[in-house]
Amino acid sequence: GACGSEKKEIPKQIYIGVACYDQRDTFLGELLENFKRECRTLEKRGYDISLTIMDAANSQRTQDDQVQEMIGNGCDILCVNLADRTDPSQIITAAQEHDIPIIFFNREPVEEDLMQWEKLYYVGCDAEQSGIMQGEIAAEYINSHSEVDKNKDGKIQYVLLEGEAGHQDAISRTEYSVKTLMKNDVILEKLSYQLADWNRGQAENRMNRLISQYGKEIELVMSNNDEMALGAVEAYRKAGYAREDWPVIFGIDGLEEALEAVKAGEMQGSILNDRVDQAKEMAKMAVELFEGEDFEQESLKEGRYYFSEYQKVDGSNIDEYLNAEETISHSGM
Ligand code: GAL
Ligand code: CA
Repeated sequence: GACGSEKKEIPKQIYIGVACYDQRDTFLGELLENFKRECRTLEKRGYDISLTIMDAANSQRTQDDQVQEMIGNGCDILCVNLADRTDPSQIITAAQEHDIPIIFFNREPVEEDLMQWEKLYYVGCDAEQSGIMQGEIAAEYINSHSEVDKNKDGKIQYVLLEGEAGHQDAISRTEYSVKTLMKNDVILEKLSYQLADWNRGQAENRMNRLISQYGKEIELVMSNNDEMALGAVEAYRKAGYAREDWPVIFGIDGLEEALEAVKAGEMQGSILNDRVDQAKEMAKMAVELFEGEDFEQESLKEGRYYFSEYQKVDGSNIDEYLNAEETISHSGM
């Protein structure tokens, strides 16, 4: 060029292939919406992003094939939300053969697998933190509201709704929420643990059965996520119980509908799972990996892991979070 600048303003083309375990999952759907939005903002920074999102409908076999297909189509970066988090080996082998970095997200591979090759990363949360926080807000509520103990026996009769068997978040949330309640002087009596696959309808069915079995005896529902907590809310609505006969209900994710339920007094709290921040980090990493930047350093745990911070939401701060979707990311880029 005349002024000595040799640079042309041709957008750099990046093809990002995204593989999802199941797009019907509400939290994941929101995470993907945010990711698409982040990719559009990258276009303003001079990248031409082409995005393919494939849904494995819960089958690892299907996902393995979908990843092969995206590799065959020339993708530069893979973002993978494993169907079976213990079985990423086919995908890793295929990606490594073609030297395509993988950003795993939301469903954490075991460490041994992630360390198999240096171009494997993970974006998600520290599941233990969400369990501890959920236990803390529940304990705080129970300790300051004696009416939660409806039958006045000094114990809290509780039900726990669990996500998917074997999922890192379900395991840690169950373990740490209960431990934290006990640590904070809540005496618990377990009525039932029910697996409901992160799913609202399944949780509603499980709760219906428990309501017919235990009637008003249930004083607390701890749920591994908001969708299932909302299933419990729905079951109580339909059962037609007066509000003082409901248990207190706690979820995780900070979905808009759950926040509305907290505002309405149908749920008592949730833990925000920061999908805005996770989506931002994924997009940022995708570009950095594309540019060949090496970030085996400070920002990532063990050079591989990015964990966004969970945040507690309950009656005390609900207004800050309700209808504030675009501001929920407090950690920023
Ligand atoms: C969790 C989230 C759940 C579900 C699950 C899927 O982090 O809290 O609602 O989306 O991921 O892997
Ligand atoms: Ca009781």
